[in-house]
Amino acid sequence: MNLPADKKAIVSRGNKVVYDCGDRIIKVFNENKPAADVFNEALNLARVEEAGADVPRILEASKSEVGWALATEKVPGITLAERMESDPKNLDSYIEQFVDLQLKLQTLRSPLLTQQKDKFVRMINSVEEIDKTSRYEVLMKLDGMPTHNKLCHGDFNPTNVIIGEDGKLYVCDWAHATQGNGSADAATTYLLFEIEEEHDIAERYLDLYCQKAPTNRKYVLDWLAIVAASELARKRPGEREFLTHWINVADYQ
Ligand SMILES: Nc1ncnc2c1ncn2[C@@H]1O[C@H](COP(=O)(O)OP(=O)(O)O)[C@@H](O)[C@H]1O
Ligand SMILES: [Mg+2]
Repeated sequence: MNLPADKKAIVSRGNKVVYDCGDRIIKVFNENKPAADVFNEALNLARVEEAGADVPRILEASKSEVGWALATEKVPGITLAERMESDPKNLDSYIEQFVDLQLKLQTLRSPLLTQQKDKFVRMINSVEEIDKTSRYEVLMKLDGMPTHNKLCHGDFNPTNVIIGEDGKLYVCDWAHATQGNGSADAATTYLLFEIEEEHDIAERYLDLYCQKAPTNRKYVLDWLAIVAASELARKRPGEREFLTHWINVADYQ
């Protein structure tokens, strides 16, 4: 696909730049990004839309002058993250909408999506910096966890929620979507807030998620070591020590 000259970069990180191109958003990966990952994200997006989720429409996945690129229809609006920052007085209400949205997604089913446990196993096995014993313990723990088939986003955080001008909430960035256990997805979200050093929001989020799901805090926190170990596979700069800490903290909870 061709990238228009008047494109505006929204975010630039690691191996990609996301551009606002007027009526479409184009996520352009660098030349090292495997085609299979890009097509997988496109396929996930098509599948979750079919499952009934409010998501940006997929338009195209093809080669750009840089690397593989994914185009979606632009949802005019602002992200929930921006709204939470600009209107902190109403933070509780935004956290509540965020939890309601995650729980609503979890009522949906998409039987062809990757199984969450398979994804966790693959990610944990790809992490070189975990010693053999910890890896074995985490994988054994994962094996003993309940298997469900709820739609799980896998990277559910307020930057991936768009408040549309039509008043609806849309969820983007489905690269890590799976079908699996909702508590595991909640543990990932909790950890993502902690990574951002939003400890207070992490706790308020978790309390509300447990109250509304409803589920016991313990069932969510039991997943922490597993999700921390698999997040290590993403190799985001500066997170290694933090995540390793969470693998161990979670062990003793
Ligand atoms: N279809 C879309 N409509 C409007 N904004 C979008 C759309 N897709 C992505 N964005 C914006 O671009 C940002 C980055 O896109 P995202 O798919 O989340 O990439 P990343 O994998 O880098 O997080 C989002 O946080 C959102 O602000
Ligand atoms: Mg994102």
